[in-house]
Amino acid sequence: MTTLSNNVSSTLPTIAPLNPDYLSLFEREGLTVKPLEPLGIEIYGADVRTRLSDPVIEALEVEMAHRGFIVFKHQTDLSAEELVNASKWWGAGGIHSTHGVHPATPGMNRDIFRCSNDNRYGILGVGPQWHNDGSFEAATFSHSAYYMARAPEQGGTHFAHQGAAFDALPEEKQAFWERLVSVNSASGVSHPVVHTHPISGRKSVWLHLGMTGAVIERFPAEDLPIDELQQAPASTDQLRLLNEDEMKQLFNDYNDLLNASFEKHYGIRYHYDTGDLLYVDNWALAHRAAPEAHMSAEEQGLRIMDRVTVKSRQNLAPHFGLPQYINLDGPHPFNRDGIWKAGGVGFRWKDDIPMQN
Ligand SMILES: [Fe+2]
Repeated sequence: MTTLSNNVSSTLPTIAPLNPDYLSLFEREGLTVKPLEPLGIEIYGADVRTRLSDPVIEALEVEMAHRGFIVFKHQTDLSAEELVNASKWWGAGGIHSTHGVHPATPGMNRDIFRCSNDNRYGILGVGPQWHNDGSFEAATFSHSAYYMARAPEQGGTHFAHQGAAFDALPEEKQAFWERLVSVNSASGVSHPVVHTHPISGRKSVWLHLGMTGAVIERFPAEDLPIDELQQAPASTDQLRLLNEDEMKQLFNDYNDLLNASFEKHYGIRYHYDTGDLLYVDNWALAHRAAPEAHMSAEEQGLRIMDRVTVKSRQNLAPHFGLPQYINLDGPHPFNRDGIWKAGGVGFRWKDDIPMQN
């Protein structure tokens, strides 16, 4: 198995700086904006109980697409309704909830997913591996809110920029990954392994490490540029399934690529204060809970984080004219050594890691 560090990356990963026009707009409207390094933005002086102006909301959504996330500081004691209302500023302007509701959720509000390190207060152990929220859906959530109602002493969220991660890939892997489509083992939904972000226009990597049952490859075509190949419908004989070794390589490469984000300056470990309201562009950044986030309340104090997930304007649609849903339960017409696994965590690429997301 080759490792990423053996290869020279094709271009240096970059995160766009804050747009200066937007910066003056934010300042005119009384917001103090602090870009974090290498990604993310903190915002001081806002009160999300009152809707921001439309130009500010639009500018913040663009900044999220480029820099990954924003954090409204000092938003303590938001009600469930106030949190949900502010979350409707983004994406398609609605909430997309797929989760169960924990009994401790304020008002049993069905749009709040309450996570905690104490099961009396919320759901335990969410999201230990790199992932994007709602990747089992065709219209994967455009944004997610993480509202730290009560911050623990340590343990936040790790974020990795999937556009900069694509840039950091060696050229031959970029070309290979652009010809891949993954299929979710739970829902059968199919997504491209490299998609073009609808706002930033950046090619961005995308894979679910804990719920993928198959990866379909389209054979290269010398005469077609990749963008045209992705648009062109494929016949069955132009497609194959990755086999076990190829799947292991892909999943390990993806995990290594995102793990390398911290030293290569396209990842950040964000630590929350109580009252932080973080919005992530869920098509631009992958995330995972920091390992310390799951330490018990006795060890590091009680953690209560409320998540709200935002409806996307469009589906994350697969390439090659493939259907948005592919049934992994039945037989398939591809190579017989290909992986095709319905249910559970899908393909197990590593034996000793918790896969729940
Ligand atoms: Fe998550």
